[in-house]
Amino acid sequence: MARKNAKSRGASNKGMNKNGAKNEGHETTQKSKSQYRDGGFSAARWLGEEQPKRVTQGKLPLPGTVHVPPVSDEAQKKHSGGSKSFVQAVNRPVDSMKDMPTDLLGRKYETFPAPKPLDHHGPARIIAMCNQKGGVGKTTSSINIGGALSQYGRRVLIVDFDPQGAASVGLGINANTVDATIYNALFDSSLDVHDVVQHTDFENLDIIPANIDLSAAEVQLVTEVGRERILASVLEGVRDEYDVIIIDCQPSLGLLTVNALAAADGVIIPVAAEFFALRGVALLMQSIEKVRSRINPQLEVYGVLVTMYTATLHCEEVLQRIYEAFQDRVFHSVISRSIKLPDSNVAAAPITIYAPNHKTAKEYRETARELIARGIVD
Ligand SMILES: Nc1ncnc2c1ncn2[C@@H]1O[C@H](COP(=O)(O)OP(=O)(O)O)[C@@H](O)[C@H]1O
Ligand SMILES: [Mg+2]
Repeated sequence: MARKNAKSRGASNKGMNKNGAKNEGHETTQKSKSQYRDGGFSAARWLGEEQPKRVTQGKLPLPGTVHVPPVSDEAQKKHSGGSKSFVQAVNRPVDSMKDMPTDLLGRKYETFPAPKPLDHHGPARIIAMCNQKGGVGKTTSSINIGGALSQYGRRVLIVDFDPQGAASVGLGINANTVDATIYNALFDSSLDVHDVVQHTDFENLDIIPANIDLSAAEVQLVTEVGRERILASVLEGVRDEYDVIIIDCQPSLGLLTVNALAAADGVIIPVAAEFFALRGVALLMQSIEKVRSRINPQLEVYGVLVTMYTATLHCEEVLQRIYEAFQDRVFHSVISRSIKLPDSNVAAAPITIYAPNHKTAKEYRETARELIARGIVD
């Protein structure tokens, strides 16, 4: 089956902009930023009739290993005093984080070595980005962790597993005009999974898109044989070609999410730093436990990623509660609340490419490095 938008891997934009000029590094010119904005905010864009122009992508520099010295008790005390110093500490640019003493929780910061380039690719680690609460940053984190990892040379496949199709739109794929989506891959066993993979404009970053068709899947799956493991068997067909597959789950604990958990090696739970953050997380943990005991014994909880953090006492308290619940499974990396993220969603590019020097881009790169440092991703 013909693939729209499909280009051979790596040939998509290798350092060339639309005029054929060569781009060095991860530069984002003023001109291309304004193209983003115009494209991003036009009515046609919002109505899904037009895809915005995107900047080209460069390779991230891979700086040397960063060793963070241990913190003295005195420094620890100082940093636990006021929210400001805490936040300054965690929000230092990750690319020069040698003087970052503690994370937001006052924990000694682990050393996150710069990721080494891989000499071979696959089989992929499969990660479900899961929280049945909506609006906590699942899609944004899938796109941006995926984006950062792809810039570190990891081959990334994002599986849009939400009928809203936000991950597809956020990576510039119009899921209403492609030949086939994840829905077709689930139900048409004659379809080769490669026919639903779309290459994005960004090197090493592919997506299996979704659109509203997927909303019918929940009901249709009920009568399927082996209904919980259908996504797992679909992904088996491409697993060897990627280093990481990120499944962007929908906000529910239905059969689609069970399929994501059954296919995954582990779960990342994005949690927004707000009062209701932990409501429902206990239920999510129960679902994970059930899938682990009945379907997928290797399923792990890789960690909790705190998102939408602001420098307020409220957020600090919420972070403490999250830590009490999850202990060291709370990632050191924390994502601040930033308008740049919705901006980059609209611009259909990971923020690490759209605004590589923005604080939030650094935080997502930091998260990607932490995943590699923790051995979650190769
Ligand atoms: N750290 C953040 N700061 C500000 N806005 C954010 C942040 N993360 C996500 N958003 C915005 O919040 C909304 C919901 O995020 P999204 O990633 O779609 O959540 P989910 O997939 O969990 O429903 C989106 O409009 C997104 O742009
Ligand atoms: Mg989402």
